[in-house]
Order: sequence, then structure tokens, then C-alpha cells
Amino acid sequence: MFDVKKIKKDFPIFENYKRETGRDLVFLDSAASSQTPKVVVDAMDDYYFKYRSNIHRSAYNIGEQATNSYEDARKTAAEFINADTNEIIFTNGATDSSNMLIYALEKKIEWKEGDEVVTTILEHHSNLLPLQEMAKRNGVKFRHFEMAPDFNIDYGNLDGLINEKTRIVSMTLASNVTGAITDVKRVSEAAHKRGAIVIVDATKAAGHMLVDVKSLDCDFLFFSGHKICGPTGIGILYGKYDILNKMPTSSFGGGTVEDVTMEEAKYSDAPFRFEAGTPNIAGVIGLGAAIKYLEAVGVENARKHTQDLVAYAIKKLSTISGVKIICERDHLKNIGIVSFVVDGVHPHDVGEILNRHHVAVRGGHHCAIPLMKALGVSAISRASFYIYNEESDIDALAEGIEEAIKIFS
Ligand code: ALA
Repeated sequence: MFDVKKIKKDFPIFENYKRETGRDLVFLDSAASSQTPKVVVDAMDDYYFKYRSNIHRSAYNIGEQATNSYEDARKTAAEFINADTNEIIFTNGATDSSNMLIYALEKKIEWKEGDEVVTTILEHHSNLLPLQEMAKRNGVKFRHFEMAPDFNIDYGNLDGLINEKTRIVSMTLASNVTGAITDVKRVSEAAHKRGAIVIVDATKAAGHMLVDVKSLDCDFLFFSGHKICGPTGIGILYGKYDILNKMPTSSFGGGTVEDVTMEEAKYSDAPFRFEAGTPNIAGVIGLGAAIKYLEAVGVENARKHTQDLVAYAIKKLSTISGVKIICERDHLKNIGIVSFVVDGVHPHDVGEILNRHHVAVRGGHHCAIPLMKALGVSAISRASFYIYNEESDIDALAEGIEEAIKIFS
């Protein structure tokens, strides 16, 4: 049985907030960054206070312990997405993964005139911009899937968009604005038939639904730690080993080589070739602890819980006149996000009034400006749910929205 009250106790912020303010924190912004359970901070504390040292370099005990914890986290991350351990590169987060990957593919692919890359209107800027810039630098045609009425992508033009000239298809697994879960498998089948590389941005999906790189049949996938109960400044980049191991790296330095002369270097195999310098060791250990925590909760349980919250929120907000819900309405196809606009009240004002009720939501363009344009808005309010949210949080949200309407009417 999924016990939210018990789960909430794993996250000290809720108790601390109540002690400081006398009010409950209604945190509905996990799509921006989730909260952190104590076990994750404890794992990082253990590293700092009990065995802090560098990795992959030391013969002494605590150095070995640090290396083992770091490499255990890689194994945990690999199993989390059904990958092999040597297919996981630790990065600074999804944006870093995306930039590093596009840089490597730019160098690896022999671009020809007429080549095309394809993405979708749902993308976060972190996935969109590196690809857009790369396309510009190489004179590559930049194409995209448009939005469908259900706020997912429109697959109608799949065969028109993905053709013999397509070299890369890069898409999100779930929208951070509309909550829509895309059909990556359908797109990857079409892309692979034409020999294109498939990249998946799983930043909004990981930890909210099971992510399996083999069943998605993607070549690359990435996500950030901070949205799955882990620390900030850490993420992963997955790559199918055969492709990954042939890719050039963009960052050179310690820990990446087998041999070096004054003229040249022989670089190690993936993943080590891609992790130059001393990495974010505590962050990696924290990420490993976060994944283990989520696995103990059960990602499928988390999924069911946020689906129920989406259904409840859509029902509740639909009763408020002046609120227009802009998200995937089928809770079974929604990753845990209900976005909305309130007639006559700017999303920043909605956020401000909600804050007075101790309700945290994000308002703005959500780093998805082309999507805002497709939706015909400049900004949107977004409530996003995770394992520590309850129906009472949504009741508080509804109350706050009603007050905002009253104030601005
Ligand atoms: N990508 C984060 C969001 O969607 C910051 O809010």
C-alpha cells in the first residue's frame, strides 16, 4: 500500500518548513526540482565525513571505498534504465549531457549536403538548443513534429519528417509542460529503419515511470538527478556501447587516458574517456542513493500515485470557472503535470498569490518557448506532482487559485 504520509516523513523539508513557518509546505513544483529524502543526504554525508577521497587513483582504504561507492552508483543507474554499466556517463545534469552528446555527434557524423535532424515542438530548451545550434553550424535542415490537439506530438507526418536524409531524431519522453508521454518507440522504429540516431530526453520521465532503454530502442538517453530525489549538479548520459565507444570526447584531462606522450594520447574506453577530472563524487553517490530510494518506493507505485493526483487535479480545477487546463487530460498518459492559465491573471501573479497560501508552483515559459508559442500563450502555470503529494495539496492549490481570481476580478 502506497503510504504518502510515511513517504513524506522521509523528506525533512516538510517538517522543517512547518517548524519555521507554522504552515504546511504544499510543494507542487517537482518538475522543476524534486525534494530530497534524508537517505540521499546521509549517503553524501557519509562520503564527506567517513571516506572522502578521490576515486580511481588511490591504494588506501578510504580511496578504495570512494571508488567502490562511485562505481556502485553507476551500476545502480545502469540497472535503473536497463543498460549496461559501461554505457553510463556521469554528467553535470541533463543540459550538460545534451550538449556533450550533440558536440560528440557533430564531430562523429560525416555531414552531407541535404542532411536533416528532427525534434519535436514539446522540447525543453536543453534538448532543443544544442541540436538547433549544431544544425546551424553544419547547414543541416532542422525539422520538428508539431503538436496534436491532445498536447502530445502529432505523429501524422511521421513518414514525411523521418526519411533517408534524417541523421538524428531527438525527442522528449514526457513534456515538462503538457505532461504528455510521447511514443518514443514508434518514432525510434521509423528512425532506425532509415539509419538515424535516436536521442531521448528522459528528464521529466525518469523516476516517474519505468524507463527502459532497450524497449524504447534509443541510442542515447539522459536525465538529471535533481528531478528524481537526487542532488543538483548531477545527471547521466546513456549511450549504446557500440556507438558511445566510437564517439569523441569534448573534455580532456585526468582519468581519461591509457597512455600519453608529449605528442599524443591513447584514450580509455567509454565511459571513463568521457569523465575528465575529479567528478562530482558526492553527487554521484547521492544519485545512486536516490535511485535506490525510488526503487524501494517502487517507480510503478509512484507512477500510479501521480496518475491519481493528475485525475483529481483535473477534476478539481475543472470546477473553477476562469481556469483553462492545458495538459494531457488522460491521467494514464500524463507524467504528473497539470498546467493551466487563469483568465485575467498572469501566471506570475498566480504564483505570487499561491505562495501566500504556501503553495509552490512554477509560472513562466518553462524553458519551452516554442511550445508556448504553439499553445498561443506567453506563460503558463504548472502544478507538478510526486510521491510526497496528497489530494489535500490540490485542494490548497484550488483555494489559492480561487483567491487569485477574486483579487484580480
Ligand atoms: N526543467 C525544469 C522545469 O521544467 C527547470 O521547470
